[in-house]
Amino acid sequence: MRSVLSALAAGLLLGSSAHAEPSATNGHVLFVKVGCYQCHGYQGQGGAGPRIAPDPLPFDGLAAFVRTTSGEMPPYTTTILSDNDLADIYAYLQSIPRPPALADVPLLKQ
Ligand code: HEC
Repeated sequence: MRSVLSALAAGLLLGSSAHAEPSATNGHVLFVKVGCYQCHGYQGQGGAGPRIAPDPLPFDGLAAFVRTTSGEMPPYTTTILSDNDLADIYAYLQSIPRPPALADVPLLKQ
């Protein structure tokens, strides 16, 4: 009985921590899976859509836009993309490094 209870408790702990921290790795997978990359590029560098990384908009603004846009970009409702998944995508966008400074590119050194 005791081992059943501790197994249950462990399960609950694992279950509740599964989405405590947004995952940039999962966000990268989702970014490709739900098609953001098709318009914004694999690194969010821009393409048909504008550049959205590095330095993404603040999360609230980005989330509001993604949920309600009615322009060229299709809106992503919570049915297609859950809040947790959007948080993961945001973590991915935040994880994209800035490009090197010009002075750090050997070919361009003067
Ligand atoms: C079919 C092409 C397309 C897809 C797919 C798409 N976008 Fe966009 N996105 C656009 C275009 C075009 C704009 C700019 C148009 C506008 O401002 O109405 C835009 C704008 C944005 C902006 C606002 C940028 C700014 O600085 O104002 C964000 C943030 C964004 N997209 C995130 C996403 C995310 C996250 C996904 C995937 C969940 C996604 N987009 C999927 C085409 C797309």
